[in-house]
Amino acid sequence: MREYWQWALALAVMVPLLGADQPGDTKKADVYPYAINQWHTTEPGENANYNHRKRLIGRGLAVYQNHCAGCHGVKGDGLGPASDRLQVKPRDFTKGVFKFRSTRQLQLPMEIDLYRVISKGLPGVSMPGFPLMVETDKLAVIQYMKTLVPNWDEQAKQRQVVYVPQAPQDMKSTERIMRGRVVYLGMQCGRCHGMDGAGTGASIGVVEDEALGSILPRNFTRGRFRGGDSSEDIYRTFHTGLGGAMPQFDDNVILYTNQQTVAAQADYMEQGEQAKLAPYLAQFPKNSAEIFKLDDAAKRALIVRHSWDLVAYVKSLTLHPKATAPFVAAPADDNGQSGEDDEY
Ligand code: HEC
Ligand code: HEC
Repeated sequence: MREYWQWALALAVMVPLLGADQPGDTKKADVYPYAINQWHTTEPGENANYNHRKRLIGRGLAVYQNHCAGCHGVKGDGLGPASDRLQVKPRDFTKGVFKFRSTRQLQLPMEIDLYRVISKGLPGVSMPGFPLMVETDKLAVIQYMKTLVPNWDEQAKQRQVVYVPQAPQDMKSTERIMRGRVVYLGMQCGRCHGMDGAGTGASIGVVEDEALGSILPRNFTRGRFRGGDSSEDIYRTFHTGLGGAMPQFDDNVILYTNQQTVAAQADYMEQGEQAKLAPYLAQFPKNSAEIFKLDDAAKRALIVRHSWDLVAYVKSLTLHPKATAPFVAAPADDNGQSGEDDEY
């Protein structure tokens, strides 16, 4: 099965390339525009790994042209011939905006983040995984991709990895899930994801971003998490944000949820929900003044509790009765990467 869709994908990418000579179609006439001496971003002597990296970049160019350029474009601008037919557009690397990072918002990803995306792919969109790609080729294509991003070396120095602790054992407990619902209300995730996590009642239906285009907020009931689906991954996702698609929620925002902020959301709650949540809401500080008075250790403990509660709640939605695409029913080799089933 896997071979089959990879071939289908290769065909989808190649067929338009074969028709490259049609007049009037400038996009198809793209020629690889770089000379070899422009590949490196590090001057000789500046970096002991210079020669090694230059060799890898050369190898990475070949890998990129074979496997990536059809979608991401020879220049990395996301305008490969296959991009026309894709609903979620391939990333334009020249904009330097990345969604799936372990670093802070607006920073470049770590190499390991790129490695994960290339190895595993992104479920629900056309970005395929390359689990069988030779390791050196993966490392080489990463080095090459970095040359497509303006000022990679300079900007990479700013990167700070967001700390992700280990998830507690009780992620499926009702206590956590119900408190997580409270945090979800307090932090207003529903503005984009809907009050039910499936988009119902969302006030922001589409996020428009200059670098990333139009993005639909994720329907959590589908259970597809492109940044990874472990508890730690989901924790990381909202702590780092997703480029222009989703803001980064920092510690202060997470800490801020209190009884007053949640009460202000009453209009959006389902009937009877307030009563159901009351015992859990009672475990939250009454208002911001009360939070302000807490010592640092107590604040930290609350941030960590809120974060894991929120992850527990988001994960619980994938088992929601409204779930339309339960993973369980899919054949063993279908991890949602079939190319044509672009979805949120
Ligand atoms: C069939 C089309 C297709 C091919 C082939 C493809 N990609 Fe992608 N890629 C995409 C799409 C579409 C996205 C954007 C997904 C999204 O925004 O959620 C993407 C996203 C990515 C990202 C995520 C960037 C981020 O924002 O974090 C990386 C990294 C990436 N691709 C690298 C590669 C590499 C390297 C190759 C070749 C080895 C490749 N892609 C081949 C379609 C493709
Ligand atoms: C301003 C709108 C907005 C708000 C507010 C928002 N999100 Fe998102 N979120 C998005 C968009 C858009 C996506 C889809 C991004 C994509 O993959 O293209 C998304 C995707 C996600 C994902 C899936 C990421 C993945 O790995 O595929 C998670 C988890 C998530 N959001 C959690 C949250 C949580 C928790 C909150 C509240 C604290 C929240 N979001 C608030 C816009 C928003």
